Amino acid sequence: MSDSVARWRAADVASTFGLGEPVGEARFIARGAMGVLWRLNSASGSWAVKELFDPPEAEGLAPESRFVDAARDMGVASPPLVRAGDRLVVDMPTVDGAASPIRVYGWIDNVGSPKPPLPVERCREAGMLLGRLHRTGITVDREPDDWYMSRNVGGPWLERIDALEHRRPELVAMLRPVIDDLVSLDDLAAQAPRPPWMMCHRDFDPTNTLIDTNDRLVLVDWENAGSLTAEAELAYSLLGWCVDRHSEVVPAAVHSFLAGYADEGVVPAPRGLGSFSVALAARLNFLALMLARVVNDDVSREEQDRAERNAQEVIEGLPRAAMLRDTLDMWEQLL
Ligand SMILES: Nc1ncnc2c1ncn2[C@@H]1O[C@H](COP(=O)(O)OP(=O)(O)OP(=O)(O)O)[C@@H](O)[C@H]1O
Ligand SMILES: [Mg+2]
Repeated sequence: MSDSVARWRAADVASTFGLGEPVGEARFIARGAMGVLWRLNSASGSWAVKELFDPPEAEGLAPESRFVDAARDMGVASPPLVRAGDRLVVDMPTVDGAASPIRVYGWIDNVGSPKPPLPVERCREAGMLLGRLHRTGITVDREPDDWYMSRNVGGPWLERIDALEHRRPELVAMLRPVIDDLVSLDDLAAQAPRPPWMMCHRDFDPTNTLIDTNDRLVLVDWENAGSLTAEAELAYSLLGWCVDRHSEVVPAAVHSFLAGYADEGVVPAPRGLGSFSVALAARLNFLALMLARVVNDDVSREEQDRAERNAQEVIEGLPRAAMLRDTLDMWEQLL
């Protein structure tokens, strides 16, 4: 799929989502693991149009919708959701006769996402944002998806490595030295959180925030929202926000993040290293998915190469056990 021209028609999306007359064509902004983000201007404003690779699970959309509205009411800075009637996602026809699931958010004028290592003030602001988000406190009955509960994608790591052996030697050279780490992180990832569940963002990291033109953090990318625990989401966020360029945790950043959270809500208690299970399950499942994609000949070479880069990033940033313990100590001390 070319990234420069949208396959769907701007006029169709504008009329379906009630945006008024489109002004010009949609402009490509970013391609992620789950979709492509476009900017579309119209008579009534500017819009972030997300074209999803896979249709979302229908039963997740209503809770997500309520959650985003509740978060915005609570003062969590985030773009408005634009609905087509009561629908968040609509299959739009494409020029090649297929259809793409599309959703629309209000456009946020921004100067980019914050890039680690972040100033402690930014970590504090992120902590406040998360504390406020968790104050929504919407409980849910639904167990979190398997993705968050253990590393269940891809089978044994050795088999994944064998599949890569003759095709991606650089990747294999990165994987071999960390195989024992991967296996012990799998064990930690299996210490899944317990109910009660509440609505969480489930990907609260710097790449899913934007710094707006008032220098304020805005939370985007709500597609993963769903059930989890506050404690699991906090652990996930600490590893995303409070690290340096080498993915080492920065103590001052952890303190600031937790202090910011405490300003807005009650900091959930950790339950030992198992608190990091979701953070690990999500990373390891993503890694396993990318390793499989690298050798999947049903996807383009470009897609395989992108998967290799994603896998390398995860491997380079793999949390070390000592680092998890230090982070846990700081978290426990705050309580
Ligand atoms: N409402 C918005 N206004 C302006 N820019 C946005 C908006 N939403 C997203 N973006 C831009 O698009 C990028 C990608 O968006 P997003 O995080 O939603 O998708 P993704 O990361 O590509 O997908 P995924 O995380 O599902 O793989 C963001 O980093 C940001 O630069
Ligand atoms: Mg994202």
